[in-house]
Amino acid sequence: MNKKISLIGAGQIGGTLAHLIAIKELGDVVLFDVAEGLAKGKALDIAQSSGVSGFNVNITGTSNYNDTKNSDVIIITAGVPRKPGMSRDDLLGTNLKIIKQVSDGIKDTSPNAFVICITNPLDVIVMALQKYSKFSTNKVVGMAGILDSSRFKYFLSRELKEPVKNIESLVLGGHGDTMVPMPKQTKINNKTLIELVNENKISKSKLEEIIARTRKGGAEIVKLLEKGSAFYAPAASGVEMAESYLKDLKKTLPCAAYLNGEYGYKNIYAGVPVVISKKGVEKIVEIELDKSEKLNFDTSIKAVKELFQSAVKIDPTLTK
Ligand code: APR
Repeated sequence: MNKKISLIGAGQIGGTLAHLIAIKELGDVVLFDVAEGLAKGKALDIAQSSGVSGFNVNITGTSNYNDTKNSDVIIITAGVPRKPGMSRDDLLGTNLKIIKQVSDGIKDTSPNAFVICITNPLDVIVMALQKYSKFSTNKVVGMAGILDSSRFKYFLSRELKEPVKNIESLVLGGHGDTMVPMPKQTKINNKTLIELVNENKISKSKLEEIIARTRKGGAEIVKLLEKGSAFYAPAASGVEMAESYLKDLKKTLPCAAYLNGEYGYKNIYAGVPVVISKKGVEKIVEIELDKSEKLNFDTSIKAVKELFQSAVKIDPTLTK
């Protein structure tokens, strides 16, 4: 039997997720949205591309949570995206209410699912989702680090004229302006970025510029699109997490995961490298941070904690 993947939110990211999952034949797809026609229309459109693409999975649309019952994976993009000039944090009030509804919809119908959250502000929304749903923490993760790392890799590949596949990279911390791109963990053909700076292959100021552009990568797209935010790269990143779980690939991927003492923090979600296997988050990989990386990581966690406090002010039940 095919695996079942439910996508809560059939907007820009949801539709792209459905298409990618179908092409990769990861499983049957249920597209859920409060806008029923949107979910059904996109499902039918993608299904009709199977005659060309040749994939053999079912794709359906719905606005009834019963149809998502017993999902193996749930990917959540329900919520509003940013408008130009907005930060991800500005979405908190609206998306927190939406995530509560989503949680009520999935917690009894798919209690064993691996849940990947993409809705922003990511770290706080994924934490709220875990608290509302009471799913075990290793089954609830947020997608951000893969996207941020992918943006970083892309900018570096353009600058260094190296194919992106020769670049390994890591971005840690929260999915916001305080995210922490890690030059020491970034390797181009097995040389670290620091070595490349020392060899004058890239200047320090250029690297700083690329780090700043990575941090603002989402806002740059929001400004260009004028309506809505990035969706191709976020969807591709979410699919990589789902695939590692469904196929037990045990990939180490930067994700927003629940910290229980790792990196010196407890009871908070933040972007760290995790091994995703059929168990969900199998392990959090603790890499050694130098002084300045630790400082940046701490600043990022502080920003996530502060935003979570704003969430608690909106909904005090989140402390339970
Ligand atoms: N339940 C289910 N779906 C909902 C709900 C709800 N309570 N509320 C809104 N939606 C749906 C909308 O109808 C819309 O189709 O969520 C969908 C969101 O799609 P888009 O507006 O196209 O947004 P998208 O670009 O996909 O981004 C979704 O992910 O990256 C984040 O910041 C982004 O928070 C945003 C989310």
